[in-house]
Amino acid sequence: MNSKYLYINTMGCQMNVYDSLQIQHRLAPLGYNPTEELSRADVILVNTCSIRAKAEQKAFSFLGRLAPLKEFNPQLIIGVGGCVAQQQGRAIFKRMPHVDLVFGTQAVARLPKMIERITATRRRILDVAMDEAPRAQDFALNTYQFDGISAFVTIMRGCDNYCTYCVVPYVRGRETSRPEEDILNEIRHLVSNGVREVTLLGQNVNSYGLKESRSSFAQLLTGINAVEGLDRIRFTTSHPKDLSEELIGSFARLDKLCPHIHLPVQSGSNAVLDRMNRRYTRVDYLHKAALLRSICPDIAITSDIIVGFPGETDTDFQQTLDLIAEVEFDNLFAFIYSDRPDAPASHFRGKVPDAMKKERLQAVLEFQKGHTLKKNQALVGSIQKVLVDGLSKNQPENDGSSTGGLSTAQESWSGRTATNKIVHFINAVPSPFPNQTLTGRLMDIMIERAMPHCLWGRPLHQHDEPLGKGV
Ligand code: 5AD
Ligand code: SF4
Repeated sequence: MNSKYLYINTMGCQMNVYDSLQIQHRLAPLGYNPTEELSRADVILVNTCSIRAKAEQKAFSFLGRLAPLKEFNPQLIIGVGGCVAQQQGRAIFKRMPHVDLVFGTQAVARLPKMIERITATRRRILDVAMDEAPRAQDFALNTYQFDGISAFVTIMRGCDNYCTYCVVPYVRGRETSRPEEDILNEIRHLVSNGVREVTLLGQNVNSYGLKESRSSFAQLLTGINAVEGLDRIRFTTSHPKDLSEELIGSFARLDKLCPHIHLPVQSGSNAVLDRMNRRYTRVDYLHKAALLRSICPDIAITSDIIVGFPGETDTDFQQTLDLIAEVEFDNLFAFIYSDRPDAPASHFRGKVPDAMKKERLQAVLEFQKGHTLKKNQALVGSIQKVLVDGLSKNQPENDGSSTGGLSTAQESWSGRTATNKIVHFINAVPSPFPNQTLTGRLMDIMIERAMPHCLWGRPLHQHDEPLGKGV
């Protein structure tokens, strides 16, 4: 079979990263190899995100740039998938006549057949069918090859929460949990491929299994914790209203569960939270954050904030800043509210002017900067276990060519603490296997310097036992 090349542009969230990997594995039997060179590709797929208006604009601007490639090579197949595809469907063909395929969020398993059909007939295909619930085969292939040390695993799809600003329930469908055994099989398979860390994905992992009356999320975590050879478990995203005491207790109970939770609060004002349909109050949130810290004092808490939600007053915004000060998040992602078609808030009155939204965004980011640095500084002098994910970027010399095959003494590596902070360190011990030796190792690093976005440290000794206690 002739080698063919597949280029995937993945936009947006981790769910899309996972789906793109699934696409890659599903198209491999057709002879498609991944490439990072657009000009080499026989198939270009754009896995889009529509959570905010900006993400959608980015997708269309990338698609626009593909038109000349298609003109140059009419055999090229261009496909658009993900949330924008789901939402806009056929309209994409009109706006982008060079597109051959529009496939929705539940069409990934059908992709190989569609690509074969387009290759044979050169006719366009639209597949944005959405079932009430995705079927088992839509979740994942359990037998793919995986090269990294850290992998995403989808445990549920869709969302039933209907936050009024959010497009997800309309483009990803109803919330459906994947069977526990299926998840465990995928994780065991990944571990046998060398994976040491998994991040469980879902729009709201805290409600895992509730609808299907299966095991709870905390029970699922207990099962995963028992997988031999796995060192670290992470998950994202959590909805504060569904964060149970059982789950909070897991942070004390499960040795592989990393002490980090991403718990989007969105706003510190009860009035805004109510209009967002978040179904918790500011006090509920503060209470859960305090409980997390009492059960697990070192836990890192990160969050999402939306500024400029319709009707957000100066007082509402001040309450958000107050909440940020009270919780002292380890890190924060802040977004300017944008109207999404279908989402009810797009019809709400009291739209906040753009200039004010920008001002509020800057104010949140500035305010948080100090907290992030303070949290990082608190780790100076501590010893952190770091799972090394590779050489740091922008190495001055990292090919070992000037040292007869040995890596240089100044090689710097990076990885993450259990609390998900990036750590860079210089490996003083020359290694005969540059690029490989430390990747995937768990090392004790003495933290010496704190920066706003990362930490720098010095390796003490290599900690390469399975984690067992205290990630
Ligand atoms: N406008 C701005 N931010 C949004 N988010 C979701 N929908 C919107 C929107 N319409 C943010 C929320 C969510 C994160 C993934 O994206 O903060 O937690
Ligand atoms: Fe969107 Fe709310 Fe569901 Fe998150 S929980 S995906 S913000 S509707």
